[in-house]
Amino acid sequence: MMNICVVGAGYVGLTTSAALAEFGHDVQCVDIEQSKIEMLNQGLIPIYEPGLEELIQRNVQNGNLHFSFDVNEGIKNNQIILIAVGTPPKEDGSSDLGYVHNVLELILSTIQDYKIVITKSTVPPGTNEWIHQRFLDEGIDEKLFDIVSNPEFLREGAALWDIFHPNKIVFGTKTKRPIKVLKKLYQRGRTPLIFTSLTGAEMIKYASNAFLATKISFANETARICDAYNVEYPDVAQGLGTDPRIGRDFLNAGLGFGGSCLPKDLRSLKYSAQRKNVDTRLLDAVLEINNSQVDLYLRKLNTFLPDLTDKKITVWGVTFKPNTDDLRFSPAIALINELINKGAHVHTYDPVVQLQLPGICCHADQYESVTDSDALIIATEWEQFHNSNWAEVKSGMSGSIILDARNCLEAEIIRKNGLIYLGVGKQ
Ligand code: UDX
Ligand code: UDX
Repeated sequence: MMNICVVGAGYVGLTTSAALAEFGHDVQCVDIEQSKIEMLNQGLIPIYEPGLEELIQRNVQNGNLHFSFDVNEGIKNNQIILIAVGTPPKEDGSSDLGYVHNVLELILSTIQDYKIVITKSTVPPGTNEWIHQRFLDEGIDEKLFDIVSNPEFLREGAALWDIFHPNKIVFGTKTKRPIKVLKKLYQRGRTPLIFTSLTGAEMIKYASNAFLATKISFANETARICDAYNVEYPDVAQGLGTDPRIGRDFLNAGLGFGGSCLPKDLRSLKYSAQRKNVDTRLLDAVLEINNSQVDLYLRKLNTFLPDLTDKKITVWGVTFKPNTDDLRFSPAIALINELINKGAHVHTYDPVVQLQLPGICCHADQYESVTDSDALIIATEWEQFHNSNWAEVKSGMSGSIILDARNCLEAEIIRKNGLIYLGVGKQ
């Protein structure tokens, strides 16, 4: 059993805290946002993540997990400090490390005994080396600290599965000293542990997300070519995916990748590369394809509705992917903003988010949201959309266009109900 302080009660910090407590450690999760901590102390969780509330409640009850907004106390009282604060993108694409710096300053101002400082937040290559040097520059004896880079690979919406069944655990260290402790941190079963340098671990995280994003943009470009030749892209994805060298995951074509990680990490990696004069034409193309997906789907819609002025358009699904309430960099929101710019009246329905945006009308009922609509767009592939009652949809709408921007519907069923099915690379 170890004493661990997790700084940051966001998606990553909360899930990691709950998992570490479940492994039997004594975990103190701290956050500067008092209201968040108060909510957690009442047994409520501030985010939507399947299974997380029960896991947190169980570990609070058994005494393994505590929440506090006294970040200083948390840092002082624990030997292992795990940093899980956000690293949002700046205007120029680089990562804003301000929150990480704040935490480091707190550690530097209180450190008296040996501490292992683990960076879980995604930070650009070179950051953990810089952190190590910062400790030395402050005159902290090398015997008093170890810096570890331990990037997180969990997906929102599937966070618990990922944290209990990781395909790898990556640790970047400067010396061998913390390795014994790190091996006992997670209950790993057969999960391979990868030990590398501090910067090596940072690069594994960025390269992973860049590769996943590349697969998605590859899928989207291939779907465009399929569309031009009336080929079913999902068949092509299946064919491609059966080759174990390629794999079927992350080949779904649609509105493109969003969320708090993929877009931000790609831009940050590009920035880091360019700082060292490394050319990034592949990353540039991946981002460019992604940024043009909304426009591609709008052009598809225009083939039936050339002018969107005063048209009533319903959008189902506003989160950046299903099973989350996260709206950060959601392609659905980018689509909604474009529809508004083009003069459409936008109505939305989402299973977990009541979207509050100027100029849109948000509905609590899936079927009510399509009343008198000229077109319905599926922007996020929530399971319940696949199983919709299309006869009811048809009778509510005034038009008959269904734009499947996530390739998640069965075109035949849509057509059987007298509706027009539109997709890219899906007929
Ligand atoms: C995480 C990672 O940490 C980020 O680097 C990665 O790229 C994406 O995943 P996430 O958990 O999604 O970020 O962040 P967020 O949900 O914004 O939570 C961060 C939390 O840290 C917030 O609750 C915030 O209040 C807290 N925080 C921030 C602190 O407690 N102290 C600070 O100084 C700053
Ligand atoms: C991602 C990484 O998967 C995870 O390992 C890392 O820790 C954080 O970033 P996350 O952002 O939660 O996780 O979502 P992910 O499941 O990767 O999806 C990202 C985006 O890609 C979503 O907008 C999703 O809709 C899109 N996507 C995903 C596709 O468009 N096609 C696909 O085939 C898969």
